[in-house]
Amino acid sequence: MILKTIDDLNLEGKKVLLRCDFNIPFDLQGKVLDSTKINRHKITIDELIQKGSKTIILSHLGRPKGSFQDKLSLNKVLKVFAEKIKVSEVTVMPFCKPNILKTVINDVSNGSITFMENIRFHPEEEKNDSDFAKQLAECADYFINDAFSVSHRRHVSTYGLSKYLPTFVGRYLEIELKILDKIFNNLNKPVMAIIGGAKISTKITLLHNLLKKVDKLVVGGAMANTFLVAQGYNLGKSLVEEGKVDLAKKIIDQAKEENCELILPDDLVIAKSINELSSIESIDIKDMKKDFSAFDLGNRTIEKISNEMASCRTIFWNGPLGLYEQAPFDNSTNVIGRTAAILTKSKLITSVIGGGDTVAALNKSDLTGGFSFVSIAGGALVEWLEGKVLPGLEFLSSHK
Ligand code: 3PG
Repeated sequence: MILKTIDDLNLEGKKVLLRCDFNIPFDLQGKVLDSTKINRHKITIDELIQKGSKTIILSHLGRPKGSFQDKLSLNKVLKVFAEKIKVSEVTVMPFCKPNILKTVINDVSNGSITFMENIRFHPEEEKNDSDFAKQLAECADYFINDAFSVSHRRHVSTYGLSKYLPTFVGRYLEIELKILDKIFNNLNKPVMAIIGGAKISTKITLLHNLLKKVDKLVVGGAMANTFLVAQGYNLGKSLVEEGKVDLAKKIIDQAKEENCELILPDDLVIAKSINELSSIESIDIKDMKKDFSAFDLGNRTIEKISNEMASCRTIFWNGPLGLYEQAPFDNSTNVIGRTAAILTKSKLITSVIGGGDTVAALNKSDLTGGFSFVSIAGGALVEWLEGKVLPGLEFLSSHK
């Protein structure tokens, strides 16, 4: 794959639409939990400022489904952005309207940043509406994609713009693609994938394809509950996607056919609610209580995963294994994170972790430094690992 980098671009005075991923995690009080994503894009943004472009930053935050939601305003990100990025002129647009941007962008200085509001407030974004893409493209000279983590979405700001503007990879995307290519082109087997987190519906289907690629597949987090129900266990009040139980059954069968070892929890840490910590118990999965919910993996499961990991040569991890935002439900994520870091340091495994929540969870306990590579991409990394061509990278194989 030939990367269309920004090496030879003369950016002075050029209007650049830059796709970043500022979809960062916040705590329940609205405080930024982790700003790794902003740190990663800094390399690209600094270069564009320094080369005198008029940079227009596009990003989403959360899934507002095409309409304004105060709690998903990118204003929440601005304070951290200002702490990290030094720039003399920032214009904050309260929406992402091409007709207004077209006028505003003529008046800003070279080396400035124009920060657009959450692009997913506009329904056209996720529909990849070609008129919206055309109108936005008319505001700029170039489109630079720096967001590998959103490149699995066929949206205007990840894909549509590349149809109407000369398109390039940003510096961070360039680094991420080079490192991932290097690791996955010389894959050391056996390979273990650890998939957790709460985005059940999106990931459960991806598991189908992963089974064919990896030797061991660990399912943790809220997703594991659906698998345990599929195995006939009662999960009390735990988060379970009833509509996906049949799919989970199929995945269990498919794992056997593909000779992939599917590793599911044997024990769980449960409580009546996250606020009733005095009710916490560690139980075998067959002893689940009806008024309780599962919030983390138990010690036997943690030990089992750690041992299996030690028998592998490459691990890929996406999604926290318990409710990492709240101690003590961050225990399994921390212990397994520490094990992976030790194995990596001793050069026994190559470890790749991906996804905003996973990075935030492991950053919280200072563990991210221990991995071979930390990607800010979650779903995109999983799809890339499956061998799919991501829509946001299709421009690299087109002849435009
Ligand atoms: C992520 O956090 O994985 C990216 O920002 C993509 O978000 P999405 O799954 O809402 O498209």
